[in-house]
Amino acid sequence: MTSAAPAPILQSSHLLGIEGLSASEITGLLDLAEDYVKLNRAADKKAATLRGRTQINLFFENSTRTQSSFELAGKRLGADVLNMAVKNSSVAKGETLLDTAATLNAMRPDLLIVRHQDSGAVELLSRKVDCCVVNAGDGSHEHPTQALLDALTIRRRGRRFEGLIVAICGDIAHSRVARSNIHLLSRMGARVRLIAPRTLLPADADRLGCEIFTDMREGLKGVDIVMMLRLQLERMTGALVPSTREYFHFYGLDREKLKLAKPGALVMHPGPMNRGVEIDSDVADDLEVSVIQEQVENGVAIRMAVLDALSRNLAKGGRNT
Ligand code: CP
Repeated sequence: MTSAAPAPILQSSHLLGIEGLSASEITGLLDLAEDYVKLNRAADKKAATLRGRTQINLFFENSTRTQSSFELAGKRLGADVLNMAVKNSSVAKGETLLDTAATLNAMRPDLLIVRHQDSGAVELLSRKVDCCVVNAGDGSHEHPTQALLDALTIRRRGRRFEGLIVAICGDIAHSRVARSNIHLLSRMGARVRLIAPRTLLPADADRLGCEIFTDMREGLKGVDIVMMLRLQLERMTGALVPSTREYFHFYGLDREKLKLAKPGALVMHPGPMNRGVEIDSDVADDLEVSVIQEQVENGVAIRMAVLDALSRNLAKGGRNT
């Protein structure tokens, strides 16, 4: 007797962003990830879901968390995983993104995980290959698996999205994490506040459907979740804050500012953190309030769920041909 194929979760054969995902697709991924949290805590962490599949991780920007968790996710699901070392590849000789994609595509991967410094680059690449593509962060556009792992972390801490007040604080203008979280949290019924100096708010901030605060103390009053962001100096063309010391005074999360949030509020950060710039170590390392390490743990589970869900959409032969 053959077992029934698992039910599809995602409409698309790619995960390029949270924008466009329905609440039921998001919930389906979070539910599936719960199973993988359990598997990852077991002594035997292996499943055969992706046995025979090939996954290539193609990261044009540095990463610790996203790349290593996608590698672990693929391996725990039984895929053959190749990490392309972009710095040692023919990209360094001038090969274009699309030629690189076409070359890898010819090796018949099933899943391609891509991080790129340019917004829209991953979507462009997805149109040129026959496999499933996952956006692992494109410029300041989207980082969908980060928003999903953040949502999993919030849900696993017993919070319901409907009516939840989430403050996203810091360099929102350059943050793909902020953009994906705004889409996800709004879709799931949460209220999102953006807290930043004017220079670090995106040009379209008024159209994102969020409440906007330039005074962090005002913005933090009564929030359930405080999500801190790194100053992305590598994406700034000029100085957008007077000094990191002054920035920390006005926009850094310390114990005193955190007291303005709701009692029991959770502190989140996608990492990497700049301690003493956007967050005080005293808060970041306090496991009573900080769920930063839980975010990392849940990152592996959510990426397993995404790979599993996309593999369900693959044609029987393996690729989207
Ligand atoms: N949060 C995140 O994307 O971290 P990495 O840059 O280390 O992958």
